[in-house]
Amino acid sequence: MASKWTLITGASEGFGVEFARLAAAEGRDLILVARQAEKMERLAAELRAKHRIAVEVIPTDLSDPEAVEALWRKVSLRRHIDILVNNAGLGYNGPFAAGDGARELASIMVNVVAATILMKRAVAHMVQQGGGRVLNVASTAAFMPGPNMAVYHATKAYLLALSEGVAEELKDSPVTVTALCPGATKTNFAADAGMEGVRLFKALPVPAAGKVAKAGWRAMHRGERIRVTGLANKAFAFGPRLAPRRLVARIAGLFLKPA
Ligand SMILES: NC(=O)c1ccc[n+]([C@@H]2O[C@H](COP(=O)([O-])OP(=O)(O)OC[C@H]3O[C@@H](n4cnc5c(N)ncnc54)[C@H](OP(=O)(O)O)[C@@H]3O)[C@@H](O)[C@H]2O)c1
Repeated sequence: MASKWTLITGASEGFGVEFARLAAAEGRDLILVARQAEKMERLAAELRAKHRIAVEVIPTDLSDPEAVEALWRKVSLRRHIDILVNNAGLGYNGPFAAGDGARELASIMVNVVAATILMKRAVAHMVQQGGGRVLNVASTAAFMPGPNMAVYHATKAYLLALSEGVAEELKDSPVTVTALCPGATKTNFAADAGMEGVRLFKALPVPAAGKVAKAGWRAMHRGERIRVTGLANKAFAFGPRLAPRRLVARIAGLFLKPA
């Protein structure tokens, strides 16, 4: 078997670029996946030159499950993938009753379906290969319902529950699953989701993606199950355990509407 590879989805922007930099700095060979090929090619050239690693770019639309399966077949052929970073994701901010739902469905396909397919294939592969790590990028959204962003919160609740369930199944194996749960962070995510003006991105200081990615990367290496980054986010994650669910939904809704 050739060298070990790190597969990173959503590697054209934001957190994905930072994860690629962290993996490259450890000398890992990389497979970068997203739709924007040019951005990934630029990143690949930078990382090859700086770290003398192999970097493959595979432009893929992860909202298409057949493309996701084809991606896995391609990347796992005669290769050991020992790290999977399920990072690609998108959201939609707006009332559930409005719009045609296309973006919400795309978010389910990417955040839920593609992440599940890749994790399912990767975990089986890692168990067979004798080790590996999965880093799933969930969100503090996973811990509460999201009025005005209901589908996104549901996708992240799913990803967190999936991560914890599989991590428990794997507890006696050399394969670990970590769910990273960041709060609002400076990436393209907010503009893309139409939520730049909402309180969540206005009320609290918004950290840079590099800092958050680093904390998640470290947690993955340690085999931690859940990493919530930042003090305020820890409160967002643990508060809902104690408060009545209606109250949690009401407070979450305040943060998901324009300031
Ligand atoms: N930033 C935040 O405030 C925040 C907070 C909590 C959690 N998160 C999570 O962090 C993860 C990364 O997001 P980010 O903040 O880095 O946002 P971002 O800058 O918008 O990056 C999103 C990435 O996902 C990729 N992607 C989206 N749709 C795709 C598709 N159909 N096929 C393939 N790739 C697709 C994008 O690539 P292409 O456009 O090139 O396809 C891009 O590389 C997401 O799962 C998000 O839910 C973000």
